[in-house]
Amino acid sequence: MEATNVHLETKATAEPTAPIIDVRDVELTLTSRAGAVEILRDVTLEVFPGQSVAIIGPSGSGKTSLLMVLAGLERATRGQVNIVGEDFAAKSEDELALARSRDIGIVFQSFHLVPTMTALENVALPLEFAGNRDAFSIARDLIREVGLAERTEHFPAELSGGEQQRVALARAMAGRPRLLLADEPTGNLDRRTGSHVIELLFDLHKRHGATLVLITHDDSLAAKCERIIRMSDGRIVADERVASDTRNNQTMVAR
Ligand SMILES: Nc1ncnc2c1ncn2[C@@H]1O[C@H](COP(=O)(O)OP(=O)(O)O)[C@@H](O)[C@H]1O
Ligand SMILES: [Mg+2]
Repeated sequence: MEATNVHLETKATAEPTAPIIDVRDVELTLTSRAGAVEILRDVTLEVFPGQSVAIIGPSGSGKTSLLMVLAGLERATRGQVNIVGEDFAAKSEDELALARSRDIGIVFQSFHLVPTMTALENVALPLEFAGNRDAFSIARDLIREVGLAERTEHFPAELSGGEQQRVALARAMAGRPRLLLADEPTGNLDRRTGSHVIELLFDLHKRHGATLVLITHDDSLAAKCERIIRMSDGRIVADERVASDTRNNQTMVAR
């Protein structure tokens, strides 16, 4: 065991861990009726496996657009987009969808559950798509993990906002993603409910070891991450590390 560790350490020194997000000189320009709009400019960002990163900035600063590029849901107009070791610019839509289902979990502000499916079916869906024969048993375990064992057969409309977001979290974790992207996941929840969802999000991030990118308006939430990236007018204008004592002292309380 000792000898193996030494070997791995030597190797690690020779080949430093590759970033899970490696985005360089990214521009995103969308054409609207009024003409071309520059949404992202000069965005360069490296995130390493297991990190937690908050993205903050005023409304309209490009946070969601950046997340869409990281998820391969929006194509950069220019620049390098290397996510989970794959060149997203070179991939077809089908290949991007496959990379997403294999390695990326996404949580949106407005939950995005399928209304005609139960909680269990919503969580099992991505696993079924991926051809996983244990989709329902894995989904059942995840639903239990997010504390909704009693709500398995409920439809989204029969669940509170917080419960729906917990289902969405379970669904995002279903494929055991290496990268978890969350866009204001508590934006539609009251503070107390939001704090439960956030505890769960960080718990999943830590326990499953997924890299977390979290867009938020909430400074105390951002400070729970190891790193805070600030956006303004489509650019990254600050990138700061959060001291670990600050981070651990952040508790979400109802105000
Ligand atoms: N499909 C689109 N076409 C044109 N402009 C868009 C489109 N989507 C977003 N935008 C614009 O891009 C900018 C950044 O939006 P967004 O990424 O949603 O910001 P944030 O998430 O920080 O609020 C905004 O000015 C928004 O109006
Ligand atoms: Mg947004």
